[in-house]
Amino acid sequence: MADHFFLLVDICLVVFALIVIKVISHLKRIPPLPPGPKGYPLIGNALDMPTEKEWLTFAKWGDVWGDICSVTVLGQPIIILNSRRIVYEMLDKKSAVYSDRPVLQMGGELVGWKNCLVLLPYGDRFRRYRRLFHSLVGGQATLKNFLPIEEVETRRFLRRVLAKPEDLQTHIRKTAGAIILRISHGYEVKENNDPFIDLAEKATEQFSLATTPGGFLVDFVPALRYVPSWLPGAGFQKKAASWANTLSEMVDQPHNFVKQQMAAGVAPISFSSTFLESKGLSDEEEFDLKWSAASLYAGAADTTVSAIYSFFLAMTLFPDVAKKAQEEIDSFVGSDRLPTYADREFLPYVDALVKEVFRWNPVAPTGVPHRAIQDDVQDGYFIPKGSLVIPNIWKLTHDPKVYENPFVFRPERFIASGTRLAEPDPRQVCFGFGRRICPGIYLADISVFMSCVLSLAVFDIAKCVENGVVVEPVHENTTGTISHPKPFKCSIKPRSEKAVSLIQEEELK
Ligand code: HEM
Repeated sequence: MADHFFLLVDICLVVFALIVIKVISHLKRIPPLPPGPKGYPLIGNALDMPTEKEWLTFAKWGDVWGDICSVTVLGQPIIILNSRRIVYEMLDKKSAVYSDRPVLQMGGELVGWKNCLVLLPYGDRFRRYRRLFHSLVGGQATLKNFLPIEEVETRRFLRRVLAKPEDLQTHIRKTAGAIILRISHGYEVKENNDPFIDLAEKATEQFSLATTPGGFLVDFVPALRYVPSWLPGAGFQKKAASWANTLSEMVDQPHNFVKQQMAAGVAPISFSSTFLESKGLSDEEEFDLKWSAASLYAGAADTTVSAIYSFFLAMTLFPDVAKKAQEEIDSFVGSDRLPTYADREFLPYVDALVKEVFRWNPVAPTGVPHRAIQDDVQDGYFIPKGSLVIPNIWKLTHDPKVYENPFVFRPERFIASGTRLAEPDPRQVCFGFGRRICPGIYLADISVFMSCVLSLAVFDIAKCVENGVVVEPVHENTTGTISHPKPFKCSIKPRSEKAVSLIQEEELK
């Protein structure tokens, strides 16, 4: 009996020892998370998370902890990438692992952006939307169809600026909206107070706020989404309900407009009308179409606006660049006509200037977070499934190891000389990565080029002088997924009588 007892104890001890060895060796095999600031128990790094201009804090963490660093907020690992190499290794080369999006309680679930491509989980619906997008704006061949829209609408922009230069930002927004609404829904915007433009502006501003990393506690404590709105501290619920309302109006109203126009037989060709016409759509297909058209419109409405406003800021702060670009335009295009997109290949300095606009003040400084679909190991660090991965695009475009004097606006950096290689094209990083790369990249590039080249051809952009004093514009940006230069003053005057007549001549056509 005693023998049996000791045998049983022996067996238990051996099994226990084996389990301990296995656990220890397993723990030993799991590499650590990437380094980062030390957090507190339970809340982790919640108090370290920046609430504004997060790209600056993330860049500082990069200086201390290296290309890849991490924080954990209430159990959620967040991996921050601060170099081109690491972003390429993870988000491009391993895009099958890193193409999911986080489930954002505020922006995605409560407000409803989860149905837009930008927050759509990686899966079948994601692939369907991307295919629809690709057929429309995926390559140079299809984009050619939109050049006339780009040219007409950008010329209308010149006329609006000529008439009221002090409303520059409003004109830029109207033009971006006008271009994309014609493409997505065949809709021509009204000159004043256009309802769809106003809706897009409101909805995209709310998107930016709702998806700011660390902006809402409910993103880290999902159970809070069930808290009733009347409880103290649940103000986010009221905000979410009001923002959800704006979003559904932004999605439904243009879609219903196309259907009404089609019923009346007067719908111009557009993304929506083409697909609505092609066959009897199932409810699911119509849902996909409605939301992918809205994704187009939401993706384009605010982003190019930021880039073009940055261009005007750069021209105000760096007048020598504007002068050099104007000399190039004058010598190739002359002053008897306005430039067109076809001139681009003959205007290398203006082309470089457009790249510099994207680099100098990136539109989406921290991109849109990707999410790891499975566990991974990178550079010897453990990236757990479900981690949020944030590419610090701002750091990538301001890394002094890649861009000399990164805060200076200098298009020459992209033109190789006998002694110097061109610096890397920022469009490789400013539009995101892997399978999530911005599907509007080519359209955006065309829109920004057209605004830059036409504005430079006809306007002199300079610092304002008020009561004999030069007003120095401050280069400051708003916080949010899409960041804009804060409003600044500048003087925009036609370069000559000839320029005025070119702008107005177009009106008569
Ligand atoms: C200056 C202009 C623009 C910039 C800098 C920009 C930048 C970006 C970035 C950084 C992303 C996230 C990519 C990633 O997750 O890795 C993105 C996604 C997206 N962009 Fe753009 N974008 C611009 C213009 C546009 C335009 C004109 C459209 C529409 C025609 C558009 C539609 C979208 C959509 C739908 C997504 C979500 C893609 C997805 O999640 O799969 N963007 N963009």
